[in-house]
Amino acid sequence: MYTSRITGVGAYVPENVVTNDQLSKLMDTNDAWIQERTGIKERRHIKKGDGNNTSVMGVKAATIALERANLKPVDIDMIVFATLSPDMYFPGGGVQVQEMMGMRTIPALDVRNQCSGFVYALSVADQFVKTGMYKHVLVIGSENHSGGLDFTTRGRGVSVIFGDGAGAVVVSRNEDGKGGILSTHLHSEGKHKDELALQGPSTNYWVPQIIAENPTEDIPYYPYMNGTFVFKHAIVRFSEVIKEGLKANNLSVEDIDMLIPHQANLRISQFVQHKFRLPDDKVFNNIQKYGNTTAASIPIALTEAWEKGKIKEGDLVVLAAFGSGFTWGSVIIRW
Ligand code: UT7
Repeated sequence: MYTSRITGVGAYVPENVVTNDQLSKLMDTNDAWIQERTGIKERRHIKKGDGNNTSVMGVKAATIALERANLKPVDIDMIVFATLSPDMYFPGGGVQVQEMMGMRTIPALDVRNQCSGFVYALSVADQFVKTGMYKHVLVIGSENHSGGLDFTTRGRGVSVIFGDGAGAVVVSRNEDGKGGILSTHLHSEGKHKDELALQGPSTNYWVPQIIAENPTEDIPYYPYMNGTFVFKHAIVRFSEVIKEGLKANNLSVEDIDMLIPHQANLRISQFVQHKFRLPDDKVFNNIQKYGNTTAASIPIALTEAWEKGKIKEGDLVVLAAFGSGFTWGSVIIRW
């Protein structure tokens, strides 16, 4: 068995900044409510004509990650693309990246695990590298939320939270064998699948049915979130899965140099931080600027933390996520 490590990180967010005040002109919301409940000050939205979509943003983030890994697209052996907002119903984003980046006819796999998507995707990449099957796997998390949200008062419980963006990492065979991805821990509990979901268009709610029913109240084609219910489960699962990862490696909370939680809500990150008594400089949050970018949030935050010099060689970095499904997971990394 080999070990794997992250050799390059990259992120891209659209230029268009959307503030809370701008949203309050579209719906009955306000800056104070959004900041108090979520910590979010602004987010990025793709602007019509700016050339972005989910796979294009993924390519932009991946290009930076590859450069930092000192690799060319031809060196990549596999793409794992995590998103809940693909450009097309099928095929997925991975094949679009393969085409746009001029890669060999390598495997391209899409992961559909929403807010846990990046952690799941990273775990998949880790298994392929550890077994020796592949040497360099490109992992992307990218989301175009703004294209599918309800920006009326009806949708305010969801639409103020989510933002667009992409992040990417290269997972490579760890040539010197020191550190790297120590372990990944994944979970699911499908009985809560309806608490945070987008029902259609899908084979349950296919386009002709939506048109025929023309639903106005119970709208299956906008995301639904039982926010308080999700919040309560999130804080429990985040804590559990971080502890699980540390225990598996005989580590304790004191060993953590940097915790990068999925950016679901600043209040969730703060709850976990206080529970583990971690100082401010050991938890990285940037939801204030980008909102919740789902599968992209961890790689965007990881990239920003790395760019700011907050992650150094030898640091113990912990990634943790929770979201729709419910699914959750953690990754323990010796950088
Ligand atoms: O990333 C995947 C996982 N997702 C999460 O982890 C999200 C977890 N949940 C949350 O972050 C929070 O539950 C929210 C931020 C979504 C909501 O915060 P909350 O404190 O749970 O608020 P609430 O849903 O209980 O709503 C409180 C009130 C309601 O009004 P009434 O019924 O008390 O009159 C809502 O209608 O706030 C109202 N409300 C808003 N008001 C202004 C809901 N959305 C808004 C809004 N602006 N955008």
